[in-house]
Amino acid sequence: MPGYEVIGEEEQREINEVFAKGGVLFRHGFEPMRNGCFKVKELETAFAAQMNSKFALGVTSGTAALRVALAALNIGKGDEVITQSFTFVATVEAIIESGATPVCLNIDKTLNLDPKEIENAITPKTKAVIAVHMLGTPARIDQIKQICDKHNLFLIEDTAWGCGGKFKNKPLGSWGDIGAFSFDYAKIITTGEGGMLIFNDEILYKKAHAWHDHGHENNPSVPRWEDTRSSSGFNYRMMELQGAIGLAQLRKLPEIIKAQRKNKELIWDAINDLPEIEKREVPKGSYETADALIFLVKNSNLAKKCREELLKVGVSTKILPEAYTWHFAGSWTHIKQLMKSKKTNSTNDYTKSEQIIRRAVSIPISIHLPKGMPSIVRTCIMNALNE
Ligand SMILES: Cc1ncc(COP(=O)(O)O)c(C=O)c1O
Repeated sequence: MPGYEVIGEEEQREINEVFAKGGVLFRHGFEPMRNGCFKVKELETAFAAQMNSKFALGVTSGTAALRVALAALNIGKGDEVITQSFTFVATVEAIIESGATPVCLNIDKTLNLDPKEIENAITPKTKAVIAVHMLGTPARIDQIKQICDKHNLFLIEDTAWGCGGKFKNKPLGSWGDIGAFSFDYAKIITTGEGGMLIFNDEILYKKAHAWHDHGHENNPSVPRWEDTRSSSGFNYRMMELQGAIGLAQLRKLPEIIKAQRKNKELIWDAINDLPEIEKREVPKGSYETADALIFLVKNSNLAKKCREELLKVGVSTKILPEAYTWHFAGSWTHIKQLMKSKKTNSTNDYTKSEQIIRRAVSIPISIHLPKGMPSIVRTCIMNALNE
């Protein structure tokens, strides 16, 4: 569960420092007033180091991070971008905002993009794949990267839920050309709203940096109002208070993940012997963020019953089974661009995804596990199974 559980004095201290040093809230300029205080830049440097990447760029949200990533890769009108049919709608919104066409494919039992679906969906217009590490379990990112390399496609990782996770010892987000993170209030670390991109390619980083700031190139030899520019852009700049909170949260990230992983195991240990429960598949080599514990039951009715039993004792589920309408492409009839993509090579038959997610129950994992939680969850699931 999110970093909001551990927001406290450390975040407050970081914010106080911004005000103590002059109260400049803008990430650029105002040097005489800010006494060397650049919280967004400090966060970017620390984040890049923690993610074993050369560069990081703070932005206003995870959605913005995806949009900036697509702009940096020059993806736009006439291009197709492959992603998965189980993700938050933001992944697809960012593709549409860039002018490209989203092509949503089926998931496998990892609840992430099924690599076996990708090659069939590639057309001459395909430019990139956005793989999502949904709810903290890594996608089969090594296989997805191999396919992208073979077909010369860019790979973006939607790491909204994967911050601090790893696959084969490599941080999630650092497998692709660009990793896009969310720091919204429900995420593993939070700045209220906010996001981050990571890169190893300096040219991509510079393009993203300029594009997220109206095209500003931050040319050190001229004042900002005379700055050089070679591309258009927009404003997705992170502000200093977000940077300050992010610094305190980032220092807590390893402990957050450790606690979540431990608590997830405690709950799984309490229920794994129950009949007809199938755990979400976890690719070998994964270091999950353990944001949720997901298991599949026999059918969607039983999944709903599990939720009802949990709600009776004040425990909610997380996204599944109740909120798939926001997280499943088959439900997004309001997105006309998605309907258009039916004309692409993609099968657009989401039956396989639907068969998995409708049977899924997702238990949120908190950093501070309420007392007795594993046995409470067990009793609820048993009640549902016995009904
Ligand atoms: C998979 C995924 N991608 C992108 C986002 C967008 O992040 P934000 O809320 O910071 O815009 C979210 C948010 O929930 C998400 O779950």
